[in-house]
Formats: sequence, structure tokens, C-alpha cells
Amino acid sequence: MSAFETIIYEKRDGTGYVTLNRPEALNAYNLRMRDELYEVLGAIRDDPEVEVVIFQGAGDKAFCAGADLTEFLTAPSPVIARQARFERDVWGLFLSIDRPLIAALHGYVLGSGIEIALCCDIRLASEDARFGLPEPGLGIIPAAGGSQTLPRAIGRAAALEILMSGRWVAAAEACRLKLVNRVVRRAELLPEAERLATKIKSYSPLAASCAKQAVTRGLDLDLKAGLELESRLGRRLIALSEKGRG
Ligand code: COA
Repeated sequence: MSAFETIIYEKRDGTGYVTLNRPEALNAYNLRMRDELYEVLGAIRDDPEVEVVIFQGAGDKAFCAGADLTEFLTAPSPVIARQARFERDVWGLFLSIDRPLIAALHGYVLGSGIEIALCCDIRLASEDARFGLPEPGLGIIPAAGGSQTLPRAIGRAAALEILMSGRWVAAAEACRLKLVNRVVRRAELLPEAERLATKIKSYSPLAASCAKQAVTRGLDLDLKAGLELESRLGRRLIALSEKGRG
């Protein structure tokens, strides 16, 4: 994989670390980051050695301050216009990864920052994290799944308040809303994410993958179809485990 300009990707002991790395611009999501994230996510999806992935932001101030406003809502240059036409489905790629994804969130978590976090399975936040969707102030709606993923995470009323009023939410409230699983001290954010990753990796990767599929695909089904999905995945898991032993 080529060296990236906006992302650091590392792999240690079965954990992939994806670090958004534009700290001078609060890790704002630009076209370059989109392309690099697309490449990294594709590599993760196709790499059986990666059992768990941790997403984080570089620098002290932000996980990600949303779309890069210097590229955003401006008349596109021919190059940007062309790139936009071949928009890469980063969000579909996120959802196609069957391994557990953990977001370690600090500082500003805005716009695409929340949307990346919502594509992850487990969200940890540090006490300084602040969440918001600045889209209403820009006269737009989220473009990276936020209008669908946010209400699925925190429910319709809370999501609509954030989506329509642009109100920011601090870490403690984000936890009450179930936008994040828990809040830890800043110094504990990565260690806590790593402890969680280690715990998950100590069990069967196949079982973790099936659990993820049962929950994420099941949430879009009615209960009967969800129970059938669970039963299919459970049978497949047993068959694969027996094949592995035999
Ligand atoms: N796109 C591009 N650059 C951004 C950015 C963004 N979304 N958010 C911050 N930056 C840049 C700033 O321009 C500044 O660059 P500079 O040092 O060259 O002037 C640098 O990051 C630091 O940001 P700054 O505004 O000085 O930090 P702050 O702590 O005072 O304020 C925010 C932080 C997040 C409140 C403020 O930067 C902001 O409102 N950003 C825009 C958020 C947004 O609307 N995102 C789009 C979502 S759709």
C-alpha cells in the first residue's frame, strides 16, 4: 500500500489502526482523505490478518471537524468535479467490513467525523469530545449516511434535534444518548480501545464476525426475518467450526 498523505495505517498483532492525520486542519475530511480511506478500507476488508480495527484522530484537538470547508460548497475545479463524478462509496465499504470496528473519539467530532464514528460498531469517547452536525448552518443535510445512521443509533427525536438545530452534544450527554458506549479520560482513550480490541481478539474471530452480521443486518429486518438470520448465521458458524476441527 502506498504511503498516505492524510491517513496513517498501521497493523499490530491483528489490530488495524486507522489514524485521520491532518491535525493542522482538525483532521477535516477532504477528497484526498476520502480516496485514501477508500484504499485503506478495501485493504482491511481483504486482509484476514486484521481482526479488529481502531479509528482515531491525530493531534490534541479533534477526531475530525467534518468536511473540508475549503473544498466544500465551492465551485469545483475541473479536477475536483471529475473526482466527484467518480465518487467512491466509502460508506458502503465501511458497512461491508465484517470485522469489529472501534472508534476512539476525542475533541471535535463533527459532520463526517460523526458519520465515520457511526459506521463503527463500538464508540468510545474521551471527556473532551464534542459532537455536532454543522450541516443545518450550511443549508444542507449529511451526505455520508448521517441522516440514516444517527437515528438508528440514538432514536428519531434526538437525531432530528441534532440534524435540524445543529446543537452540539458534549461527551457525557453523548453517552446518555447512546451515541457513544462510554466516556473515559483522554489519556485512557487509546488504551481502553486497545483493551477492548484485545478482549475481542481473545475469542473466535468468526463468532465476532457472525455476531456483527446478525446485529447490523438484523436491525434492518423485522423480528421474524432477524431470527431466521440469526439461526442461519449460527448454523454456519457451527458448521465452519466443525470443519475447522475436523
Ligand atoms: N475544513 C477545513 N479546515 C478546517 C475545518 C474544516 N471543516 N475545521 C477547522 N479547520 C482549520 C481551520 O481553518 C484552522 O486552520 P488555520 O489554522 O490554517 O486557520 C484550523 O483547522 C484550526 O481550526 P480553528 O477554527 O482555528 O480551531 P477552533 O478551536 O477555534 O475552532 C471549530 C474549531 C471546529 C469550532 C472550527 O474550526 C469550525 O467551526 N470548523 C468548521 C466545522 C464545520 O463546519 N465542518 C463542516 C461540517 S459539514
